[in-house]
Amino acid sequence: MVTGSAGFIGSHLAHALVQAGTTVIGVDRRDPSTDPTAAANLAALRGRQGYHHVTADLLHCAIDPLLIDADAVFHLAGIPGVRPSWGPQFGDYLASNVLATHRVLEASTRIGVPRLVVASSSSVYGPTDGDASCETDRPNPASPYAVTKLAEEQLCLAYAERPVGPSVVALRYFTVYGPRQRADMFTHRALYAALTGQPLRLYGDGHQRRDFTYIDDVVAATIAAGTVPNAHGPINVGGGSNASLLDVINIANSLTGREIQLHQDHVRNGDVLVTRANPSRAGEVLGWQPRVDLHSGLRAHMQALAAPVPDYSRAA
Ligand code: NAD
Ligand code: UGA
Repeated sequence: MVTGSAGFIGSHLAHALVQAGTTVIGVDRRDPSTDPTAAANLAALRGRQGYHHVTADLLHCAIDPLLIDADAVFHLAGIPGVRPSWGPQFGDYLASNVLATHRVLEASTRIGVPRLVVASSSSVYGPTDGDASCETDRPNPASPYAVTKLAEEQLCLAYAERPVGPSVVALRYFTVYGPRQRADMFTHRALYAALTGQPLRLYGDGHQRRDFTYIDDVVAATIAAGTVPNAHGPINVGGGSNASLLDVINIANSLTGREIQLHQDHVRNGDVLVTRANPSRAGEVLGWQPRVDLHSGLRAHMQALAAPVPDYSRAA
């Protein structure tokens, strides 16, 4: 089962699993027949043998029947994004990231699912001094979103400590980019600005650094986390890029041969200056390392943005 399968990362994961011959039940509360983003994300999976889509909210739906015979649950459903989490939507963050996760854990335990992989986040580390973050570092979340992601992964890891229930791998993804990235994220907005000539709003001076991680690398790490025997605990999934927002802007400019018009705005609350993953544990436990460098990844992301949006209703 892949939860959040109509989302950015979940749809790529579901597609890669189906391509590998795995049967996938995808669960998401966004309905592809009415939600254009979900429709575009799921277009390549529509009608594919081996993919079964269930439109349901994990806060209320019956989860047990969806888990019969499941070898693994990839729990990616949740409300992402640092900045809106300060607002009135916090209840939604808490509900989807923590309470829905609790329901998935209870159901997985009842049915006896052997492995649960949960999408955690680099944001659990909070502000750093620029050194690479290790899974053994003390988390210090700096936003309401990050607090819910830490609660989510810790809840999963607490369940894994019991004699019954699934083993749990909590993947701490670092700022994921690539085709179908969420439209609120920086890379999407920078590439869109480069392609269209529309201005880009920069929160701060652009010297923030991120360990940008390409979607295909994230999918490979996630599949490994679902299949490698004896894996458990938190694991960083970082692309190794350690680049600034200005570096991304420069690459986008060079790809289009046009300068992005920048509108500088104030730094947003909860935004950390640097995220950087220590990749050792991912290598040791998952045998994983990132393969896609930032320039190639941004080129692929830009090509996808420039291509026509697939039509879910017409996909085979
Ligand atoms: P996304 O918003 O594109 O996908 C999340 C999906 O979860 C959405 O389709 C949404 O409808 C679904 N969902 C939310 N609440 C639900 C509920 N109660 N029941 C059923 N479905 C529900 O986000 P994304 O960028 O693909 O992120 C996926 C996961 O990875 C999230 O948990 C996010 O916190 C985590 N993460 C993302 C990044 C990143 O850079 N994108 C980095 C770190 C962690
Ligand atoms: C991203 C995801 O949005 C989170 O869901 C995820 O949990 C997190 O990565 C993670 O690594 O765990 P973030 O790093 O804030 O969070 O990624 P973006 O939303 O792409 O923002 C990156 C930087 O660009 C931030 O400094 C942000 O302030 C800046 N930004 C963003 C802009 O300057 N302008 C924009 O229009 C958008």
